[in-house]
Amino acid sequence: MGTKLLRSVITGAAGFIGSHLVEEQLNRGVTVTGIDCFDPWYSPEAKRANLSKVLNHPNFDLIEADLNELNLVELLDPDCVVFHLAARAGVQDSWGEGFESAINNNLLATQKLMEASLKNKVNRFLYASSSSVYGNGDTAEQQRIESPISPYGVTKLAVDQLGRIYGAQGLQTVGMRYFTVYGPRQRPDMVMNRLFQAALPGDFCFSLRGDGTQKREFTYVSDVVDATLALSQCFVPAGSTFDIGGGNTRSVLGVISDIERLVGSRCRITEVGSAPGDPKSTEAMLGPISEATGWKPKVSLEDGLSAQYLWHEHQLSLLR
Ligand SMILES: NC(=O)c1ccc[n+]([C@@H]2O[C@H](COP(=O)([O-])OP(=O)(O)OC[C@H]3O[C@@H](n4cnc5c(N)ncnc54)[C@H](O)[C@@H]3O)[C@@H](O)[C@H]2O)c1
Repeated sequence: MGTKLLRSVITGAAGFIGSHLVEEQLNRGVTVTGIDCFDPWYSPEAKRANLSKVLNHPNFDLIEADLNELNLVELLDPDCVVFHLAARAGVQDSWGEGFESAINNNLLATQKLMEASLKNKVNRFLYASSSSVYGNGDTAEQQRIESPISPYGVTKLAVDQLGRIYGAQGLQTVGMRYFTVYGPRQRPDMVMNRLFQAALPGDFCFSLRGDGTQKREFTYVSDVVDATLALSQCFVPAGSTFDIGGGNTRSVLGVISDIERLVGSRCRITEVGSAPGDPKSTEAMLGPISEATGWKPKVSLEDGLSAQYLWHEHQLSLLR
């Protein structure tokens, strides 16, 4: 049985994935309240540009505020579905002093939002978790253990545990463990964005973390949005978590050669040593989400990379 979405509250609305989710919800005729604090961790101007197509949409309201400072209870009611995507994302910046931001934006903000959502009996509460909750290792079994190897992963696993305990209290929580998402508007700290930024000026030099054999399950952003909406429309037990992946893994060296082909130039690689918290391989288990919703990823890495390439070219043309 499907659920009619009367209003969506999307946190992290100006971010990479959040802005695509906002657009898709508006395209489907849903009224959307977006919340974002335009965290300067990366360019707030880039985030504003992410929302440029929707800012004047009659069914869209943007609340520019930090979740930790908002009166959330006023915003929520039983007719809304919460899509909680706001976070300090990114593994590398969660080490050292970055951990405080990860705690504030991932853990504290989530607990506050879950508390208010439970109190006001929101219809559903879907939140972004991450492949970073899993462990490291050579075998699929080792990679499936919930045993994060970065401070960011620790916050995301703690968020999943909050999802379980608020689920047990009656909030319809669903955790979405996204696997390396890419596509137009990808965050600037992520590998494909860094590769295109390096390639497009013409002299393709790239500082490679690790030896490039590390593999990732890359997931195109429209597949992530479709999976997120599919989960919002089906009944699964509160406290459930699902992997959301693109269906194929590729090494970073493999992606470099894909991008070399796309841009038509060779990459000069400088190895800068392995990065702490960077797993050897990630691989999503897609059976549970397919069984629950029928969703499967549709976009091949080849098509997704071409779309991201076009976006980077367009961004560059705006600067000329
Ligand atoms: N991009 C990926 O590959 C990936 C993979 C796994 C999980 N995730 C998760 O998906 C979600 C979205 O990721 P993204 O790549 O779009 O990141 P993003 O940084 O582009 O978007 C996050 C947005 O949240 C906002 N934000 C952060 N803290 C906030 C707060 N306290 N109050 C209000 N707004 C706040 C930021 O300003 C930003 O616009 C995050 O929860 C992230 O951890 C992303």
